[in-house]
Amino acid sequence: MDKLEIIGKPPGMPGTGLVGTLPIRGAKNAALPIQCAALLGSGLTRLRHVPKLTDVSTMNRLLREVGCAVEVIADTDGRTVEIDPRGVAQGSLEAPYEMVKTMRASVTVMGPLLARYGRARVSLPGGCAIGARPIDQHLKGLQALGAKVTLEHGYVDLEAKRLTGGRFLFDKVTVGGTQNVMMAAALAKGHTTLENVAREPEVEELALFLNKMGAQISGAGTPTIEIDGVDELSGIDHAILPDRIEAGTFAVAAAITRGDVLLEHAPVDHMHAIIDTLVAAGAECRVEAGGLRVIGPERLRPFDVVTRPHPGFPTDMQAQIMVLATMADGASVIRETIFENRFMHVPELNRLGANIVVNGNTAVVRGPTKYSGTTVMATDLRASASLVLAGLVARGTTEVRRVYHIDRGYEAIEARLCPLGAQMSRYHGGGA
Ligand code: EPZ
Repeated sequence: MDKLEIIGKPPGMPGTGLVGTLPIRGAKNAALPIQCAALLGSGLTRLRHVPKLTDVSTMNRLLREVGCAVEVIADTDGRTVEIDPRGVAQGSLEAPYEMVKTMRASVTVMGPLLARYGRARVSLPGGCAIGARPIDQHLKGLQALGAKVTLEHGYVDLEAKRLTGGRFLFDKVTVGGTQNVMMAAALAKGHTTLENVAREPEVEELALFLNKMGAQISGAGTPTIEIDGVDELSGIDHAILPDRIEAGTFAVAAAITRGDVLLEHAPVDHMHAIIDTLVAAGAECRVEAGGLRVIGPERLRPFDVVTRPHPGFPTDMQAQIMVLATMADGASVIRETIFENRFMHVPELNRLGANIVVNGNTAVVRGPTKYSGTTVMATDLRASASLVLAGLVARGTTEVRRVYHIDRGYEAIEARLCPLGAQMSRYHGGGA
């Protein structure tokens, strides 16, 4: 397993601040559901600005597994992917355990396979580091459209000759659940109303993608989505929108290192809660023609954050913003309301020298922290990003192990940060 070695520079040391321009890549959490939505088309779909991430490659493998032809176009630096679903009818229509346990987002093939091919068999995802992550809402929503659902031997089997439109109220706001049911309803017969849906930008982006394919969807981005089912959807050409969580992560890197970084193409309109928090902490955030410029101050102020469904503060930024809080003069309070176990980064940050106390779903963070480098273990995608951030401002060397977690959501993070002044190296097979 690879490891990252970071030679940190505590703020105030000469050359600490990250400086320069950083292009923001396509959003992982937009690409993955859109890769699934390509299954709905009757022809080839071409996706551009696709991030080069292991999760995207895993999804490409899953699409091939169910019978798609998937090609990553080499001369586009690997950022263009062509997906042709015309071979699926003879495919397995199954998302096997090995795939789903590697990447939970695999369950988002259920809706498209069921709607387009009348059948789907998907391994139950099981839990992951950050929580139990059930899919009950996905299944209830698909049943509301007429799907026959059976659960046995750890798999869910879904069947429907043709889905019929209906009304479904989500008991809980779920991004993946909203996306799965919306994709299925796009090809159902009749009208569907989905209430208490997720309002994340990636849900809006998926609705935009489906409408470009010929779907009739309105209300995405609001609590209620209306869908008039159609008989056929076509393959299209689409560019993936920039990643607000990647942009937020690198914004924190600029803020804690007293840097000055232009986050090129940053989707500012989807980042208000993140930007508001950075500004509350004392960072300067300037919207510029090319994106978002973030300038880190001499001193950071403490702040409070509660994670919420969009447009609230995103849970995917909780670990990273906690590092910002560790560098502030005073006590900050961070409450995680989306996942039941998303403080796995806290013990590792404390090993680096942070002073964070967790009580239930609330963390009290006291700063400023004089981080000192040591060996730490990544546990999940965003927790590992927070360890890299802390390593940037630690005295001495920080070794982050199991960086495969980072590679799931950040393209070659060392190649992105070194040009801005970070000192990072990757060692292949560098330890458990
Ligand atoms: C998406 O996961 C994202 N992943 C996650 O990002 C993100 O943290 C999450 O949304 C919340 O914003 C992708 O888009 C690929 P949910 P998803 O269904 O859809 C509970 C990252 O770091 N729930 O909105 O799986 C669930 O347990 C990843 O990029 C049910 O109870 O999240 C959780 O507590 C991590 N029943 C809450 O809802 C269900 O049927 C939100 O989960 C579904 C979900």
